[in-house]
Amino acid sequence: MATIRLGDKAPDFTADSSMGEINLYDYLGDSWGILFSHPADFTPVCTTELGTTAQFKGEFDKRNVKMLALSVDDAASHKEWIKDINEVNGTTVNFPIIADTDRKVSDLYDMIHPKADDTLTVRSVFIIAPDRTVKLMLTYPASTGRNFYELLRVVDSLQLTANHKVATPANWKNGEDVVVSPSISTKDAVEMFKKGVKEIKPYLRMTPDPTT
Ligand code: BEZ
Repeated sequence: MATIRLGDKAPDFTADSSMGEINLYDYLGDSWGILFSHPADFTPVCTTELGTTAQFKGEFDKRNVKMLALSVDDAASHKEWIKDINEVNGTTVNFPIIADTDRKVSDLYDMIHPKADDTLTVRSVFIIAPDRTVKLMLTYPASTGRNFYELLRVVDSLQLTANHKVATPANWKNGEDVVVSPSISTKDAVEMFKKGVKEIKPYLRMTPDPTT
């Protein structure tokens, strides 16, 4: 198992899933991806998380993001569990759940933290860009369900900062003012950002979202 760090290529793999065999790179194609692990099938928090993921499909589609879940149970179990997820959440699970019975993918992505639990995966999240680099990693404990609004917010920030010389401040939401990248002088920023630049400190310059 190699340590994965931001900017590394997401390790490719082929694995069984609730939708048959799946190869990560083929599945992602030119899209962004979110790979996220779940401790086990038929667990309550995971049931809400996967239902939420299905409910947010429209939002992920808008951002060209493909979702890929993982748990260490087998594909037959996943398919039975998906029936419950759909019933409980009024959804149709429309993305694969990897059946990582041999822990191959969990090990590759360091999703098992033995001091938390030596067999089940923690709640890991990897956001993967279209160039296959890892852009975000989150690790939550089994007892805390993830915030899917936060995942959308991070994707918005990543997609904005990939194309514009800006960064996004604390609690930023799509459409709000952004921070001018520290690598740009205020003089150049005034040229670059026609909607205006407000210098709060020489190193803290704000400008309206350049895409709105
Ligand atoms: C859950 O998904 O509900 C869960 C799984 C493992 C431990 C605690 C909660």
